[in-house]
Amino acid sequence: MNIILIGPPGSGKGTQAQKILADFDLAYFSAGDILRDLAKEDSALGKQVAKTINQGKLLSDQLMAQIIRDFLSKNQGSIIFDGYPRNLNQVVFLEESLVNRKGIGLVIYLQVSEQVLTARLSSRVICRNCGAVYNLITNPPREKGICDACGGELYQRNDETPEAVKKRLAIFRQQTRPMIDFFKEKGSLFIVDGNQPIKDIYQLIRKKLIKTGLALIGA
Ligand code: AP5
Ligand code: MG
Repeated sequence: MNIILIGPPGSGKGTQAQKILADFDLAYFSAGDILRDLAKEDSALGKQVAKTINQGKLLSDQLMAQIIRDFLSKNQGSIIFDGYPRNLNQVVFLEESLVNRKGIGLVIYLQVSEQVLTARLSSRVICRNCGAVYNLITNPPREKGICDACGGELYQRNDETPEAVKKRLAIFRQQTRPMIDFFKEKGSLFIVDGNQPIKDIYQLIRKKLIKTGLALIGA
């Protein structure tokens, strides 16, 4: 069963994805992580991706389609998508791409108020090595600047400037939110109150995934 995580910037998509992956056997498609890796490349494309992300704008549907095709060719089992699709064009493309791969089974929407999001993003730190996500206020690492999981260095993303965050939130409202009604009508939407503590949100998601038929690792 393929799963999509939808939510505005800072809603906890990456945080919940990490928890889901520890319990369920899924491949992880993180649009943001893949694009940030691409942005490090010393090429015209790399520079373009870096510039677009840092402005808080979306990359083209065409580039994203190419990235999805590449990912699907390398990953055969069920997938959890974080950050893709982000608009209705991308939904259509993903549905077509998954036609022979069990389609989209569940769409989890993390609903969080905008004030909470802005505060979370300004205090987020991420591991440069393994990608683990922390928050200096709500979910701090044991040792300042060091990842609990792998000892890697923690850093703050380049797209956390007030202008970029404003842009990212606006794009979510204009382009991504319409997807929610689309999935609601299809009956695949599971709405979670993402203002709750991380572990409480995860318990709701875990229960839902088990109820939907996804097997726990080792069960
Ligand atoms: P992406 O990396 O996907 O960024 P985003 O959607 O803006 O979301 P974030 O990663 O910022 O937040 P999150 O929901 O993962 O929250 P997190 O778990 O980190 O995309 C980046 C950019 O790439 C885009 O702006 C665009 O330019 C480009 N892009 C990506 N996908 C694209 C696409 N499909 N098409 C075109 N372009 C695309 O949590 C945030 C913080 O809050 C952390 O500090 C965490 O510890 C804390 N936290 C999480 N949950 C809780 C909780 N319940 N309570 C308290 N604190 C919490
Ligand atoms: Mg994320």
